[in-house]
Amino acid sequence: MNEEKLPPVVGIKSFTAVAINSAAKAGEWIKIKLGSFENLELKYSTADLVTEIDKGSERLIRKLIGTHFPDHAFLGEEGVEPGAEASSKAIADVKDAEYLWIVDPIDGTTNFVHGFPFFCVSIALAYKGEVIVGVIYDPMKDELFVAERGKGAYVHGKVLTVSKDATLQQSLIATGFPADQRYALPLNMKSLQHLAPKVRNIRVSGSAALHMAYVAAGRLSGFWEMNLNSWDLAAGSLLIQEAGGTVTDIAGNPYTLEVRNIASSNGIIHSELVEELQKSLL
Ligand code: IPD
Ligand code: CA
Ligand code: CA
Repeated sequence: MNEEKLPPVVGIKSFTAVAINSAAKAGEWIKIKLGSFENLELKYSTADLVTEIDKGSERLIRKLIGTHFPDHAFLGEEGVEPGAEASSKAIADVKDAEYLWIVDPIDGTTNFVHGFPFFCVSIALAYKGEVIVGVIYDPMKDELFVAERGKGAYVHGKVLTVSKDATLQQSLIATGFPADQRYALPLNMKSLQHLAPKVRNIRVSGSAALHMAYVAAGRLSGFWEMNLNSWDLAAGSLLIQEAGGTVTDIAGNPYTLEVRNIASSNGIIHSELVEELQKSLL
């Protein structure tokens, strides 16, 4: 990011404080509600779920952010119609806003619904199209991952650094089974089958944002998935970049808010990962 695009430092600090406070409050509430949601709805497919807790979490976050920054734009998953087309249009419509908050109120709703303790709140702030703050909160482990552009990435004050794994064969990587079972799932399965014998192992734990926080923390060396949305990726992309890793699309093009097919890694294995993803789709 060039200097003239950087907002004042005081601004960034208070943005980060609001992002942290909102993620923490929403996360605490989600954790209290685990196992006691009342309304389960299907969105785009039988694998695309939403509960009143997703909607309540988004309302809470929107209210907290709006109280401090009423003039900022806000994009939250639950304010957008289901499906790739509506998601792509939603980010295209707001991506050039001066300040844009991008929120996934629960990433890993399927896990939340089934009581599988791997889900998070993901909040990012973009300034003129570039993510400058990224916060991911895992309420079950009480882990708060925070990144500020140019200032590094942290979990509870400890600096995050990507793994040092030198090859795919030494790497533990992750992916997801996309909710779009017609188009994206078969594509991801091709890549899964191709990559499985080329890596140490693959995890599919059900939260794209938390997988990305784990890449930033060096617990995974890579993560890829097809057809994700801006709210799945924005906060995690900054965490990984600030922890020393690389985030692109699956063809190796730089990450932007409109990327949907994501490839992220510790940087060292990135060209190998992208190359194998490309081969898998030939
Ligand atoms: C989902 C999760 C999951 C991924 C899906 C996403 P949601 O988000 O990130 O890991 O595989 O593609 O839609 O619906 O739980 O917010
Ligand atoms: Ca999500
Ligand atoms: Ca969600």
